[in-house]
Amino acid sequence: MGNAVKLGVNIDHVATLRQARRDIDPDPIAAANVCRQAGADAIVCHLRQDRRHIQDKDLFALCKLKTDIHLEIAAVPQMVRLALKAKPDSVCIVPEHPKEITTQGGLDLAKPLPGLPAAIQAFKKAGIEVSLFIDPEASMVRAAKKLGADTIELCTTAYCEAEGKKKAKDELERLELAGYLAQELGLGLHAGHGLDYHNVQAVARIPHLSALNIGFSIVARAVFVGLKSAVAEMKHLIS
Ligand code: PXP
Repeated sequence: MGNAVKLGVNIDHVATLRQARRDIDPDPIAAANVCRQAGADAIVCHLRQDRRHIQDKDLFALCKLKTDIHLEIAAVPQMVRLALKAKPDSVCIVPEHPKEITTQGGLDLAKPLPGLPAAIQAFKKAGIEVSLFIDPEASMVRAAKKLGADTIELCTTAYCEAEGKKKAKDELERLELAGYLAQELGLGLHAGHGLDYHNVQAVARIPHLSALNIGFSIVARAVFVGLKSAVAEMKHLIS
């Protein structure tokens, strides 16, 4: 297996735990430092419009660390303005629905999404790499290219939730095909959502993939083995 796939660790759920008590612990900034020491290549966070986990002050503090910060946001003007002020290293634009438990699939680029082209242009102008979270479909990859994205992040939910080996293989193939098209079009290639210690290795082998963004499974495992070990184990699996 190649060793070029980077691990972005999403620390949202460290903040979820803190917000359960509106306390100061566990601190996502301290968590980011532990993740880095354990081999994470980037720290990922999703500043949601409902602020259910990461808060604005967390984002600004994270962006001051000497670590690559990858921010996930919805393409709405308020979030774009905040991101431009905080200056993360890269941004992934995701769909966001108020009552969802977690992100539900990729952006539907078949329909015009108000605010999306302006957001992409604003980030590019600011020198912030922009990726679009999409399902592994050729039409979505082409649309992302047309919109001027630098990178796509393929949504791995369908692969992760596939029941049985045949369905998982089919979903993996969809990811691979979308990846080949991204490479052909000159787009960077990331993947994530729902990945865990059992399903990650096949995804890490997708040709041209440069980064995986993983959160929930790592924070869940950290409850039992500690964050440092949970990150190191994941890094080992994808290397
Ligand atoms: N990638 C994107 C675009 C996401 O929205 C999320 C969840 O915030 C993740 C990756 C990480 O997903 P998970 O927490 O299931 O690993």
